[in-house]
Amino acid sequence: MWNNMRILAFGDVFWRIWRKALIQEIDNIRDKYKPDFVIVNPENISSWRWPITKHMEMIHDIGVDVFTSGDHFLDNQKLLTSYLEREDCKLIRPANYYESRHYLIPWKGYIQVEKNWKKLIVINVLSETFTRDHVYNPFLKVEDIITEIHNKNIQYDWIVIDFHREVASEGYWMAHFLEWKVSCIYWTHTHIQTNDETIFDNGTGYISDLWMIGSKNSIIWSDYRSLKKRFLTWIQKWKIEQSLDKNYIINGICFDIWENRECVHIEKIKQTGVIL
Ligand SMILES: [Fe+2]
Ligand SMILES: [Fe+2]
Repeated sequence: MWNNMRILAFGDVFWRIWRKALIQEIDNIRDKYKPDFVIVNPENISSWRWPITKHMEMIHDIGVDVFTSGDHFLDNQKLLTSYLEREDCKLIRPANYYESRHYLIPWKGYIQVEKNWKKLIVINVLSETFTRDHVYNPFLKVEDIITEIHNKNIQYDWIVIDFHREVASEGYWMAHFLEWKVSCIYWTHTHIQTNDETIFDNGTGYISDLWMIGSKNSIIWSDYRSLKKRFLTWIQKWKIEQSLDKNYIINGICFDIWENRECVHIEKIKQTGVIL
């Protein structure tokens, strides 16, 4: 009997210490929430920027179904390529990067995964507002992808979008623009969990940002002491040190979606602990 689906989605995983937090906690989280699918954004897993193969492989087998990404997807392409070339690669990248016949961006911007006769499509797009990269219009790109899914007759029960961006209005607009076509939309990238989780009248579940998996006592990933001169003088030359705090915080969201594709429940996940 299946008539609904539970998805857990987690925001950007940070660096050395906190990728261990994900590995340490994932079974506890799965036991507690019993999700059908788990989605994680690991764009900061190898540093404050890029993901590399070695670290992607560390989290590949821990029960995550899809990895999304963002503006740091290709910051160290050389060290990510061998993971992208794996047949069972679970990582998608923003679908709306420009491509040309001269240069193709590796891997794909959406993925279909199937488990226990449930089929999920995850789409990843990036906004160019306050990010470094110029990308194709994310709204039109998602619309194109949904058309392509239907034209290619790709089977699915539910569609979820990781919209990697900074501006709130874009996320809200996406949710209304796509009315009814997708079950939930969430953001990643700002590393701050927002308090606006809601289910719109069109049935789309929404939250602006999931937050992150990272250090509890840091400034996103950095040691607050190393930022002292910067914040007190506004001179940017001083190096920022990584926080070595072993206290972690795991933030994400739990979505329940009914078989008619309507989101029926949203719950924030906030778990703290200490790396063993
Ligand atoms: Fe990030
Ligand atoms: Fe990002």
